Amino acid sequence: MTDATIEPFLRNGWYVAAWSDELDKGMVARTIMNEPLVVYRDQNGKAGAVEDRCCHRGAPLSVGKIVENGLQCGYHGLVFDTNGKCVEIPGQDNIPPAAKIRAYKVVERQRFCWIWMGDPALADEGKIVDYPWHDQPAKWPHRTAVMDIKCNYFMLVDNLMDLTHLGYVHTKTIGGNPKAHVNAQMDVTRTDQGAHYIRWMMDSKPPPTYVKGAGFAANVDRWQEFEYFLPGSIVQWSGALAVGKDAKADRNQDGFHLRVFHGMTPQTEDTCYYFWSTANGYRQNEPEATQQMYDEIYPTFVEDITILEGQQARVAREPDRPLVGIKADVAMTHARRSFRAALEKEQGLSRAAE
Ligand code: FES
Ligand SMILES: [Fe+2]
Repeated sequence: MTDATIEPFLRNGWYVAAWSDELDKGMVARTIMNEPLVVYRDQNGKAGAVEDRCCHRGAPLSVGKIVENGLQCGYHGLVFDTNGKCVEIPGQDNIPPAAKIRAYKVVERQRFCWIWMGDPALADEGKIVDYPWHDQPAKWPHRTAVMDIKCNYFMLVDNLMDLTHLGYVHTKTIGGNPKAHVNAQMDVTRTDQGAHYIRWMMDSKPPPTYVKGAGFAANVDRWQEFEYFLPGSIVQWSGALAVGKDAKADRNQDGFHLRVFHGMTPQTEDTCYYFWSTANGYRQNEPEATQQMYDEIYPTFVEDITILEGQQARVAREPDRPLVGIKADVAMTHARRSFRAALEKEQGLSRAAE
């Protein structure tokens, strides 16, 4: 038997709500934890997220526009600031104190817009995942994307914490021999903030994406390092060096290097956003190499989505029916346990508050 597959929301944690460059183009409508939201940046450059519902007649604010003092409702023109306070009502000077909407804390950093959906008193910006590779676009040129997936967000965490699926699901791109994946040397640890693993496939055949990227003509020593950070982030460094370069002693040598950020943000109990950013660490001076990597990764993740949406549909029919655990689940199980511990703590706090 194994842990449950559909997890409830963990509210006290930072989730990705949008990419910064999405806000450059205007406001973004997102549903997070069942709440329709508008994420936007005001004209002073401050990012915020407010509920997508005007307090006047309930119109969606996402059909409004960004004006000098904030976000203007597209129905009768009320304006709200990033704290959700109404700052302007056309035709009257008096703004009643009840004229406000829910607002959530947003922090824009390293090209991410992070949102805090939990108790505002606990929103510690020091707990935001650090992703320094976004600060080095020359060394790590990257592309970002956001996808909608019809599955519980933790199914996506599971997917990334068990890479034995690569040899079955991603044969055309980053896969490789299923046996090499299943027999990879695996080192897994629980951390204060989640779980970490590194797996090595020594002297193995490079998969198609690696050959295209770095031109390997012979076997490689290949690693995949993944760290899960509560509640919904995974930071990945994958790569390969030619056999004989002693990759285990020093991975920072010329070869194939790929950094990926994965952000899992719950929309509803059975849908999520998948924010990902993929960085080319092998032919940095060639924009077409970064594009090629993106063009390989995109359909690779679509392959995951096909599995995940099918899995969600099956599991949701009988959510309490136990599943069977296998050896390959070890990192996924650590991530789930960290998550469960945080969830229990959060539920304990809310019981105490009541
Ligand atoms: S519904 Fe928004 S201003 Fe009237
Ligand atoms: Fe996958």
